[in-house]
Amino acid sequence: MVVSLVLKALWAMLPAYVPNNVAVLAGGGRPMDGGRTLGGRRLLGDGKTWRGTAVGTLAGFLLALGLNAVNRRASERLDVSLPEFPPRAGLALALGAMVGDVGASFLKRRTGRRRGASFPVLDQLDFVAGALGLARLVAPRWFAGTFSRPVLAAVVVITPALHVGTNVIAYALGLKDEPW
Ligand code: CTP
Ligand code: MG
Repeated sequence: MVVSLVLKALWAMLPAYVPNNVAVLAGGGRPMDGGRTLGGRRLLGDGKTWRGTAVGTLAGFLLALGLNAVNRRASERLDVSLPEFPPRAGLALALGAMVGDVGASFLKRRTGRRRGASFPVLDQLDFVAGALGLARLVAPRWFAGTFSRPVLAAVVVITPALHVGTNVIAYALGLKDEPW
């Protein structure tokens, strides 16, 4: 029961988990805010780039399509039914994750935090809120069928731990400047 719940939650969220990590690898180039400021502080900061956002979103979307292919092949042999991603749901999860992360940077700058500063809770859940919010908006019926209350609860519990873990690894590998 718990295992299949966790599996479903992880599977459903994979297209939202991957974009931020890919953005770390792909980032660089022009910042999305073009250097603009608001109230003397950067609108978003140099950590949010067009390239990172675009490549991250594309990676999450392609992953959703890939997961569908794996799911179709594996479903006969598995007794858990894993969620399938309609293309727009996959895109909404990936883009929503990036938008959530960008929104968090906006809030970080407004509260005087410099690029790379940590903002506990927001750092771990910004992309979850963005991904789930956009998926719900774009694919409401798919969202309701996929993210039942127990699955949502599993997502909220698992994600922060997973996020902290991957960022510590990315930091240890020298891919990221801070371990959060
Ligand atoms: N990145 C990017 N575009 C994004 C998100 C991330 O290019 N939309 C890249 C940037 O190189 C960024 C790195 O991934 O520095 C790490 O991402 P993140 O921790 O989200 O950014 P920070 O640099 O820590 O900036 P912030 O304080 O705004 O979160
Ligand atoms: Mg950061």
